Amino acid sequence: MPKSTNARSHDSALAGRTALITGASRGIGFAIAHALAGEGCDLVLTGRKLDPVRKAGRELVQHGIRVLAKACDVRDPVSVKALAASIRKQFSRVDILVNNAGIGHTSLPVAKLPYNAWKDVIDTNLNGMFLITREILPLMRRGGAIVNNLSIAATQVFANSSAYNASKHGALGLTNTLREELRAEGIRVIALLPGATDTEIWNTLWPDAPRKKMMSPETIARAVVSALVLPENSTVEELRILPTAGTL
Ligand SMILES: NC(=O)c1ccc[n+]([C@@H]2O[C@H](COP(=O)([O-])OP(=O)(O)OC[C@H]3O[C@@H](n4cnc5c(N)ncnc54)[C@H](OP(=O)(O)O)[C@@H]3O)[C@@H](O)[C@H]2O)c1
Repeated sequence: MPKSTNARSHDSALAGRTALITGASRGIGFAIAHALAGEGCDLVLTGRKLDPVRKAGRELVQHGIRVLAKACDVRDPVSVKALAASIRKQFSRVDILVNNAGIGHTSLPVAKLPYNAWKDVIDTNLNGMFLITREILPLMRRGGAIVNNLSIAATQVFANSSAYNASKHGALGLTNTLREELRAEGIRVIALLPGATDTEIWNTLWPDAPRKKMMSPETIARAVVSALVLPENSTVEELRILPTAGTL
């Protein structure tokens, strides 16, 4: 993957790369952005609300990197196209795409789940991943990497989380397909499957969840960076990371 001309004296293999992280204003997305800033990556940070994304940008720019903070709703094709246009103008390419934006829903059985809640989760976690990937791929080159933040809910199910389970199972199907399509182009596709991680998403999924048993977002970010720094002729296809306590 080519290094940008503004690569700093950082000795990380990732220094000078451009990384786009969706849902970077908090939680796992922010932790990944923070870790990549520490490796010397230039960053594009997005979320629906601009203020928190700008705040994250102000914090991370202190690493001496370039940061573009943009509001982008991954559910909206127009918003996603506008994001791609801004990146093309400012950075011209993306080396690392982290599809992280995601939501949960209130714990309810299928018979009681409102259709709007189902649609919103599928639109964000599955359709959003498709829309972002489709618009950003033309900006990616050999040596690039895509990290799709799924969940252990991509391979196992939790009762009363049907839309979340379905969105993540679908997103794993998309991720695995993408990996085969991009093999010949030398773009690595990593399925990230974290278990319970202490973030705001639990406020909707399970407000009383035992947070102390959960991993920190920084742990997930460390695992992601360790996968990304591997030599370009090797890849971690599936990164499954769980609390030692297992599923909660
Ligand atoms: N926490 C866990 O235990 C866990 C485990 C496995 C996988 N995950 C996955 O990790 C990802 C991040 O979740 P998190 O736990 O870090 O939750 P979080 O703290 O609630 O962060 C979610 C992020 O996504 C953004 N977002 C939500 N909807 C969006 C949309 N339509 N367009 C753009 N950005 C949007 C949010 O910003 P705005 O609200 O401003 O849009 C926020 O930055 C999700 O895909 C989640 O499924 C989480």
